Amino acid sequence: MNPTIAKPLLTDLVAQTGQVPSSHVRPIGDRPDLANVDIESGAGIPLIDLKKLNGPERRKVVEAIGRACESDGFFMVTNHDVPAEIVEGMLRVAREFFHLPESERLKCYSDDPKKAIRLSTSFNVRTEKVGNWRDFLRLHCYPLESFVDQWPSNPPSFRQVVGTYSKEARALALRLLEAISESLGLEMSYMVKAMGRHAQHMAVNYYPPCPQPELTYGLPGHKDPNAITLLLQDGVSGLQVQRNGRWVAVNPVPNALVINIGDQLQALSNDRYKSVLHRVIVNSESERISVPTFYCPSQDAVIAPADALVDDGHPLAYRSFTYQEYYDEFWNMGLQSASCLDRFRPE
Ligand code: OGA
Ligand code: NI
Repeated sequence: MNPTIAKPLLTDLVAQTGQVPSSHVRPIGDRPDLANVDIESGAGIPLIDLKKLNGPERRKVVEAIGRACESDGFFMVTNHDVPAEIVEGMLRVAREFFHLPESERLKCYSDDPKKAIRLSTSFNVRTEKVGNWRDFLRLHCYPLESFVDQWPSNPPSFRQVVGTYSKEARALALRLLEAISESLGLEMSYMVKAMGRHAQHMAVNYYPPCPQPELTYGLPGHKDPNAITLLLQDGVSGLQVQRNGRWVAVNPVPNALVINIGDQLQALSNDRYKSVLHRVIVNSESERISVPTFYCPSQDAVIAPADALVDDGHPLAYRSFTYQEYYDEFWNMGLQSASCLDRFRPE
């Protein structure tokens, strides 16, 4: 019998063992309970057509976005103006990257969450007790010229294709931040200004097929620490959102992107808009690729609830903090359903 050689990346470990290793088995009581999920489309999150965002009916679209942020914290958008060929290119190059030989992928491996560019596995292998069924590439992407030279150069088109996608994603994030500001009755540029010098991170998530999906998570329930997330997913289901105490599947809709409110917009909106728990489950048949763009404040940006949203009926929900302070706390806490935001309530 050959002793199992420790593999840094899950993809290579699975290829070797063909089963869920004990390092990735969740304790009973902390498993996905797959039979108890709403998968019908009727229970789905709102789908918003952005076509009329820049016309006489802008107000209606802004109101729909506001309602979705308030009640669901998640929505999908169509006619988002990110060209289909750029979306397809992004998914193609992501798949090519994760299909590269192990030695080629490992060139970018690091378990240090502070690194701007790295390939890793699970969530934070330095702190967590049970692994998650995911490998991921994490890239800082704004300002692009500060980071692109450190990105993987294999596949050869990686930098060009991913760079183009990241610029399109940023343009959409800015349009959404404007619409969100308006929906809160704030000046259109309010949230864009609140991001300071702005930052943008991207994850390229790779979830290999899993022989026993009931034992583990792609990602366990968590809330995103950034301001707003734009998620591109391939055709494979896996994302689930919590709604009224139940998990609801967010099945891929062709040409749509999934948008969710992160903790910083919850804080800036003084709790009007919700950063909602979501998780990823895996399946035994197909690999799954997803590409979240995490749009965030720069590290030095000071986040505080907007004055106009604080009154007698809506007391100040958070003290002010820098994004750096928040982000450090988030990575130290690890992924868990307890909100990191609760640590920033006023004294
Ligand atoms: C994340 C996340 C969802 C997905 O990376 O924070 O929630 O479908 N991803 O991969
Ligand atoms: Ni997330």
